[in-house]
Amino acid sequence: SRIAVIGGGTSCEHEVSLASAAAVTEALTGAGYAVEPLTIDRDGRWLGHAGHLVGLAGAVRVLGSCVAAVPMLHGPGGEDGTLAALCELAGVPYVGSRVRAGAMAMDKWATKLVAEAVGVRTAPGTLVTRARAAAGLPTGPLPAVVKPVSAGSSYGVSLVHDAQRLAAAVEAAFALDDRVLVEEVVHGREIDLAVLGRPDGTRTVAPPLEIVTGRAGFFDLATKYDGSARFLVPAPLRAAQLTSLREAALTVYDALGCAGVARVDFFLTDAGPVLNEVNTMPGFTSHSQVPRMFTAQGVSYLELLELLIADAVA
Ligand code: DAL
Ligand code: MG
Repeated sequence: SRIAVIGGGTSCEHEVSLASAAAVTEALTGAGYAVEPLTIDRDGRWLGHAGHLVGLAGAVRVLGSCVAAVPMLHGPGGEDGTLAALCELAGVPYVGSRVRAGAMAMDKWATKLVAEAVGVRTAPGTLVTRARAAAGLPTGPLPAVVKPVSAGSSYGVSLVHDAQRLAAAVEAAFALDDRVLVEEVVHGREIDLAVLGRPDGTRTVAPPLEIVTGRAGFFDLATKYDGSARFLVPAPLRAAQLTSLREAALTVYDALGCAGVARVDFFLTDAGPVLNEVNTMPGFTSHSQVPRMFTAQGVSYLELLELLIADAVA
């Protein structure tokens, strides 16, 4: 059966997305599926087989000829619900969250408001727009993390120790989004959870993964992709810690209305879990967190993919 695998995109996570899409394509091709590759280049053009320009209309035709689509775009312009919307309009079943959950999870401010409303803690933070920045930057405690509201892989994120550096950090984040979040630094272990929702309403949580960066607790862009971070799966956790993380992950997954697999990232503090963010199209190479967590549960990379595809068409 023909499966469309969509990668690339115009966000700064273009390369990461190509890696995810390539891994999915390789696994599906190896298992005998006919993969229709669709790539959005950095300028937003749609390419098909062998990098052939097909355009949006061509891409919609390809989608219409497939039994399912596997969108593997990370960041704005893909993970934020736009690809889900295209699949909806093209009438092709697709893996992962629908439009609303993708849009909400991509927006770290909306995610924070929802999480806090359902009792899941997040870092105290302030929303900064250009108009607000002109009237004065937040004067909260330092160090602070400055990040674009909608981005991924830590692009545009700065750790600010010194008030004099705040303006430059905010400006750097504005390069990626017109809304910026200034948050208090949370001191805790970085623990990721993967939640898999099924069409019958059940959800599975894979064994949590701990990120050991070897640096001062900042899993930044370089650390994400230079191979220096170590993942511990399953993360060594006491029963009560595991329970509180699982509960928090499920609560956020449900509150946002996610579907398929989502990675819910936490800091585990002495006072319990603090939500960092939710990824509705998480990194999907074979060594990315989500596949690693499911492998620890005995679900192989291909099995996870086939489960997601089966759920999409169910
Ligand atoms: N945003 C990156 C791809 C991740 O969630 O893994
Ligand atoms: Mg992310």
